[in-house]
Amino acid sequence: MKILLTAGPTREPIDAVRYIGNRSSGQMGAAIASNAVDEGHEVTLICGPVTVEMPDVTKRIDVETAEEMRRAVITEFPQHDLLIMAAAVADYTPVSILSTKLPRHDTFALELKATPDILLEVGDMKQSHQRTVGFSLEIAGNLHRSRGKLIRKKLDLIVYNPTETMNASNVTAVLLWPDGREERPDEMSKWEFARLLMARSVELFSK
Ligand code: C5P
Repeated sequence: MKILLTAGPTREPIDAVRYIGNRSSGQMGAAIASNAVDEGHEVTLICGPVTVEMPDVTKRIDVETAEEMRRAVITEFPQHDLLIMAAAVADYTPVSILSTKLPRHDTFALELKATPDILLEVGDMKQSHQRTVGFSLEIAGNLHRSRGKLIRKKLDLIVYNPTETMNASNVTAVLLWPDGREERPDEMSKWEFARLLMARSVELFSK
């Protein structure tokens, strides 16, 4: 199978030296990539600025911003069977970017705008032979928000995980399918979870 995988955070520049980022390390993406490679899949990895080492994959594209990640995903998706969006894409980006270093002031107001929703766009490009899997990092108990994203982004599977998962080595996740099915595996390492997710992703093609 040809798998397109995104991993890590994105960085949204504020000025020549500063950016808005998040605490995503890329650990989950790395675990999914090595499981997929071990199982003999072709993996294209679109990678934000990760802080963990990524395994060798068929093709790696390094990006920084949500817009760069969007362009890479839109270009690569038609050549792949499965997209797994494990990246923690920034939800907001500055309205304007200063080309020099902003001097220090007593207060500073930054105007932000929403980034393009990559999965939403991919949902409209998806062909009948393709499947998409998303992640949804939510405050504990907000499973209904994940279900909303599953439907809105036309995903075949979404992984709900509580915010504590970011940058941790274990996950307590819930898998949700559009037909209402749920799976609640015990807390496990990201490595074990990646293996379970690969198995569930492959199953999506037999339905
Ligand atoms: O940020 P949110 O909770 O909506 O993320 C849910 C899923 O959507 C994740 O898989 C994430 O990678 C993806 N996403 C995206 N484009 C964005 C924000 C999130 O594709 N701008």
